[in-house]
Amino acid sequence: VLPVYSDFLSLISTEMASGHLTRAEALACEGVRHACHVMLYCDAQALLFGTISIRHIVLMQMRFDGLLGFPGGLVNPLEESLEAGLSRELMEEMGMAPPVSEEDHVASCYAPPSSSSSSTPPLITHFYVKKVEEEQIRALEKAGPSTAIDHGLEVLGVVRVPLYSMRDGGGLPSFLSNGFAGNARAQLLDALTRFHLVAPDDLCQALATCTQIHA
Ligand code: GTP
Ligand code: MN
Ligand code: MN
Ligand code: MN
Ligand code: MN
Ligand code: MN
Repeated sequence: VLPVYSDFLSLISTEMASGHLTRAEALACEGVRHACHVMLYCDAQALLFGTISIRHIVLMQMRFDGLLGFPGGLVNPLEESLEAGLSRELMEEMGMAPPVSEEDHVASCYAPPSSSSSSTPPLITHFYVKKVEEEQIRALEKAGPSTAIDHGLEVLGVVRVPLYSMRDGGGLPSFLSNGFAGNARAQLLDALTRFHLVAPDDLCQALATCTQIHA
């Protein structure tokens, strides 16, 4: 039985609303660590197998730990602004840094504590979404291997997110079955909904089909 649309909406809002903070509230927290990540995307027009319409390109990355995440990383707000830190991380991880500003900020929230981090301060993750031109996306995909200092180290490669669902569960359902760093999966679902990159019914269906069990 597929969950109905309202179930899907409550699922998304539960994932995002837990620990949700404004940018200002997050910056006022003491004794926490901050991390900034960005979803870069563009409009596109292509047909997979001549039939499946590719309307957008959304970038994530395969990380050193085998988990999927967005480009970005830890930022110390005492030393640099959130956006300057994000830009530094993009240079390290992608070899290029499209300008990302405060206006591109989407959400900040407490990351679920990982089992190994009982001694480290809690983490607040700041999420940005930036729409760029397709040429910029293609340039970013090329820059990593040639210029990013973290290519082959922290970052194993840039990947595109399949936004379509195939009858056998291929595409987005399979992609969502992968392992994700921190709350990157919830960030992805939020952004796909918020920026209308996948229709709510299709995303709902993909979540119902994907094989990963989530708490
Ligand atoms: P180092 O330079 O090795 O410290 O890595 P980094 O600065 O690039 O930090 P990283 O990108 O790994 O992010 C820091 C923490 O945020 C990680 O421990 C992850 O648990 C979490 N994280 C990583 N990627 C994402 C992501 O895409 N979204 C969210 N919300 N959290 C992430
Ligand atoms: Mn990094
Ligand atoms: Mn990183
Ligand atoms: Mn770092
Ligand atoms: Mn690093
Ligand atoms: Mn669209």
